[in-house]
Amino acid sequence: MAVRQDTIWERFLSPVARLLIDEDSLRRYSESVDWEKESDRFRRADVVIPAYYSNQNFHGIQGGYLNSGAAVTYDPITQYVLPPNETVVRQALVDAIKVQPRRILDLGCGTGSTTLMLKQAFPEAEVIGLDLSPYMLVRAQHKAQSAGLEVNWRHGDAEQTKFKSDSFDLVTASLLFHETPTDVSQAILRESFRLLVAGGQVLILDGNQKTLRQLEWLNDIFEEPYIREYATGSVDASMGTAGFAAVQTQDVWWINQVTSGIKPILTEDLHTQRTVRHYTPIPIDNNLQGLPSPAFDTMP
Ligand SMILES: C[S@@+](CC[C@H](N)C(=O)[O-])C[C@H]1O[C@@H](n2cnc3c(N)ncnc32)[C@H](O)[C@@H]1O
Repeated sequence: MAVRQDTIWERFLSPVARLLIDEDSLRRYSESVDWEKESDRFRRADVVIPAYYSNQNFHGIQGGYLNSGAAVTYDPITQYVLPPNETVVRQALVDAIKVQPRRILDLGCGTGSTTLMLKQAFPEAEVIGLDLSPYMLVRAQHKAQSAGLEVNWRHGDAEQTKFKSDSFDLVTASLLFHETPTDVSQAILRESFRLLVAGGQVLILDGNQKTLRQLEWLNDIFEEPYIREYATGSVDASMGTAGFAAVQTQDVWWINQVTSGIKPILTEDLHTQRTVRHYTPIPIDNNLQGLPSPAFDTMP
């Protein structure tokens, strides 16, 4: 994996991460996979990679997510950048679910850590993880296999997923919005609105915008091209602009936040054939404590 030499990541964090990560097992895993053959199984010819994605490096890694190196190193690194603990942070999204979903779409699913927790929480639901990188989907599929969970992994762009309107009860995205320009995040929220049934829920887990605004130096550390833009924005306001109601953001420790919105049920929805879900708050057993987290499966 080509890594820029001048980044804060490379100068300070990468040497520390290297001490904590078992590079030999990563190398063994990486060499055991025929990445081009396996990623071809997911690659769809009709997916156009947007310029904001292919022109940028993320975390100082050249080529962003369109290579196997990103797929192999993503989880080992991510576990150290989500205080107090990766599972606790992801669990905050699962805990914020107020619907009993039958069909769930996780946008920008990456290696599927949140997607798999969603499937664990709602085993009866059809769960789809969508990502622009077929390499990340290969890794996600391996994790699903080791966890014995059935998830559909789909190559696609969250801005235009090509799924039918009104066809999901829950749409989620974790750690996606700080990696997209504001107009792209807005387009993803518009698309989420289109995809949800009336009464359906959207949940966005990402960096805490208040904290990122106050601690400018954090933005340098994370080496993300769009994180400053993300920090100055408001997911809350963007959800409102996209048409969501009951929008609420809650802090997840001091460095992350989860924002929830509901697609409102309009009177006309009740008189048409459109699918509507009436959600009366019901106790949902989202507590996965004690279950092994799919985020941390070991590599072969
Ligand atoms: C920081 S990773 C987050 C992955 C995962 N959701 C998680 O919580 O670990 C961002 C992911 O979003 C994907 N991505 C970025 N823009 C996208 C888009 N427009 N459509 C689909 N996936 C996108 C990237 O390929 C990458 O896998």
